[in-house]
Amino acid sequence: MSVSRGGFSSRMGFILAAAGSAVGLGNIWGFPTQTASNGGAAFVLVYLVLAFCLAYPAFMAELLIGRYGQANAVTSMQKMSHKLWQKRFAFLVGFGGIICAALILSFYGIIAGWMMSYAIEPIMSLMGMTDAANWLVTQSLARNFIFTALFMLLTIFIIRRGVEQGIEKWSKRLMPMLIGLLILLIIYVFTLDGSREGFAAYLNPDISRVFEPDLLISALGQAFFSLSLGTSVMVIYGSYISKKENLVSLGAQVTLIDVSIAFLAGLLIIPAMYVAQAQGVAIFAEDGSLISGSNLVFTVLPSLFSGMGMVGLFVAFGFFVLMSIAALTSSISMLEAPVSFIVERKGLPREKATTYIGIGIFCLSTLIVFNISFMLDFIAILATQYGQPIIAMLCCVFVGWIWQRSEVLAEIKQGHDTVEHSFFWKVWPWYTKFICPSAIALVFWHSL
Ligand code: PHE
Repeated sequence: MSVSRGGFSSRMGFILAAAGSAVGLGNIWGFPTQTASNGGAAFVLVYLVLAFCLAYPAFMAELLIGRYGQANAVTSMQKMSHKLWQKRFAFLVGFGGIICAALILSFYGIIAGWMMSYAIEPIMSLMGMTDAANWLVTQSLARNFIFTALFMLLTIFIIRRGVEQGIEKWSKRLMPMLIGLLILLIIYVFTLDGSREGFAAYLNPDISRVFEPDLLISALGQAFFSLSLGTSVMVIYGSYISKKENLVSLGAQVTLIDVSIAFLAGLLIIPAMYVAQAQGVAIFAEDGSLISGSNLVFTVLPSLFSGMGMVGLFVAFGFFVLMSIAALTSSISMLEAPVSFIVERKGLPREKATTYIGIGIFCLSTLIVFNISFMLDFIAILATQYGQPIIAMLCCVFVGWIWQRSEVLAEIKQGHDTVEHSFFWKVWPWYTKFICPSAIALVFWHSL
């Protein structure tokens, strides 16, 4: 059945929305944590290479599929399929991505909930409510449950009203403010004792480590996670872009914004780790390994802010509010993936579909909250290190081997008359067909 579809009101609207999906906890929590646990600068180097050489081309594949199909991932890919096995393959890839999005949202909501509780903590401190403030920043079942629920409710609330009203509005002011605050904080950290060592650890790669299997596979997962690939999210966002837009440059701009924010976040957090350690906060164990895994950012940043005295309370508030909004513009894109599928395929009204799916995902989050030490990492690794790169790889296979080449080229040309003279035009089609799938497969093979 046909349903009226939303769309982005402008070119800027799309950039903001797609960057809103891409920029989130992946940049400020995931990237620095992964960098710290995988040997610093070597990880940064591999990440940058993989982000531009593998994630960007795969990102373009997803955007093109969506804009051609003008529908959710399954329907879009089925439009390109002519044989029955191709339609089945399309379903597998599209639906796999949707499941991946749901799995990611189930743990993402928990971490986003932490961001919210850390945003409220400075207010409580200012009002002298020390007990409440402490409760907000201490791991507990009750806190995790309440804030995950709150965050999921916000996500459901926005998606019920539809993507174009929800997303564009939220993303507009967020990105410049986030970048501004990050730069100010980096300058501040630079003046503190111990930061030099951190900058060196972040910027001076140990080249001998770049082929370590663990490092490679973590960087691959991180690059795909950060660009929201392999979840059918970018297919859907692609489907909301007008045919008049130049996709090649839109995709490049979003990639650049996303990578820059991750890079800045690392430039803040890695040196801040060393500053915290110098101030007596336990960051590294005796053997040099990290003490706190997924908690790292929540140890390092509060310690940094608390060194600023009263000002620190306002900075902490501003920072964690911005992070909560950044997480929200990502989580709504994740929820949009299953919702648009159900709305378009089953004809369920958007409000109902959103509520049911949102509650379903929240139930999974609850399960994780109750078994956090084991399940959080398990789901995160399953969905981001395996699910996302594999599904994204299959999208490249789809574009390269199933979708007709003439149609692919025609879609690239829409909104971009001069594309035939570009490097992208000459290289991307065969690159996506041969190089992307083999390179991703190679990383997996290497890691086994
Ligand atoms: N890219 C988002 C981030 O970095 C996370 C995300 C993953 C969003 C998958 C949508 C789909 O925080």
